Amino acid sequence: MKAELEAILQPYDQTHVLRFWDELDSAAQQSLADQIKAIDFEQLKTLAGSSGGASKWDELAAKAEVPPAITADDFANPESYQAAYDLGQAALKAGKVAMVLVAGGQGSRLGFEHPKGMFPVGPLSDRTLYNMLIDQLLARGKQAGKPIPFYIMTSPPTHAETSQFLADNDYFGMNPDDVTIFCQGTMPAVDSDGKLLLSDKGTIFASPDGHGGTLGALKRDGCLDDMKSRGIEHVFYGQVDNPLIQACDPALLGYHIESGSEMTSQVVRKHDPMLKVGNVVVVDGRTQIIEYSDLPEQYAKQTLPDGSLKLWAGSIAVHVFERSFLERTSDQADALPFHHAHKKVAFVDSQGTLVKPTENNATKFERFIFDLLPSAKNAIVCEVDPADGFCAVKNAPPAPSETPQHVKDAIVALHTRWLEEAGITVADGVKVEINPLFALDVNQLKDKLSTEDSITEDRYFV
Ligand code: UD1
Repeated sequence: MKAELEAILQPYDQTHVLRFWDELDSAAQQSLADQIKAIDFEQLKTLAGSSGGASKWDELAAKAEVPPAITADDFANPESYQAAYDLGQAALKAGKVAMVLVAGGQGSRLGFEHPKGMFPVGPLSDRTLYNMLIDQLLARGKQAGKPIPFYIMTSPPTHAETSQFLADNDYFGMNPDDVTIFCQGTMPAVDSDGKLLLSDKGTIFASPDGHGGTLGALKRDGCLDDMKSRGIEHVFYGQVDNPLIQACDPALLGYHIESGSEMTSQVVRKHDPMLKVGNVVVVDGRTQIIEYSDLPEQYAKQTLPDGSLKLWAGSIAVHVFERSFLERTSDQADALPFHHAHKKVAFVDSQGTLVKPTENNATKFERFIFDLLPSAKNAIVCEVDPADGFCAVKNAPPAPSETPQHVKDAIVALHTRWLEEAGITVADGVKVEINPLFALDVNQLKDKLSTEDSITEDRYFV
């Protein structure tokens, strides 16, 4: 077996991964052989030899224009909003909408040792991110009279624990037949010489292949076929880290359908040019996202005559896809490019000693789902006020933003505003949290609380 593996590795100068072969037991040898056979060495060689497009951002940013947008003004226009809402609600009632959640990242920045979806953020309920999102899907499904199939993408590090957690909690009330948990792929990393790294004597270091891995994984695991057989046409996509996400919001779905868009991205209006969100722009007639880390400051800071930012559309990583679009692009193996990320990766050196580097020593390769935008017909963006729809939990305290406390405060602030809009006073310092199964919006809240006029104690409406 060793000779066969050497023949695979030799042309790519990667035989060092067999350095400890003779020390491995037969199971570990088999495992290493499987890892080697799963690697596309030709692709890896090309990636290791390229810059990941690092130099082109300046050129693209110079040409960047704003994308076609449904703005907050459109949402505030009762006629426009109602027409979009009705269209989206009709799609939900017809059972044509599914949700895909990406949950393959680990909560490392958050300092949480479990999959991020297990993190509790309910300000009074202490509900986890999974529980909060599923409550919303249940409420939307109930309102439409049709369940919303839910597809959760995990990664090798999060798969087993996520599956166990959801099963242990009876899928938080969802019918297990409507929940599909599928696992994304991995990509090996390379050092500065393009060499693979061993994380132990029998394991080649590999990490999740980015949320762009969703496309291939949906196809590979039969999720796209499953959606088709269920009559799904529109796929609402979101990240596990945003408990304010307006999952399967009828108006957003409606604007997407009305525009004949194959991919719609929800955005916030940037006021701070350096806000850490992807920038949705149009370059040479094609919509695309330039990540905050790739957008040169001089272009991020461009303003319009009224002083507002020219490149205003900040992606919150919520998209609506046409299922047919996902099917078409999933057939094109290289529809999504790989991005390069320079990271610290612990590795076993030639002496067999584990080295924990203090500087970046490795390049990881990741695909991003938003790189599908240039391939989408009629792509649009839809604006949302972050106070209504975006507050992600990403960082551990004392970070200045996106900590658990920021998120809890944002939930309380939103629900306080809903109550006030429903004509109910909330006393100063009182915390409120509304479960979507109690009320999904201000109108439902008004119906439910018609006899109350003030809230004077902390209260979880459930
Ligand atoms: C991301 C977006 C950014 C957007 C911001 C909004 C990227 C590169 N950037 O930034 O444009 O404005 O969110 O919050 O995505 N994930 C996987 N598998 C992977 C990697 C990530 O499922 O291999 C999932 C994570 O679980 C998470 C999401 O993708 O839900 C985002 O990943 P993260 O690395 O946290 O992206 P951000 O830098 O926060």
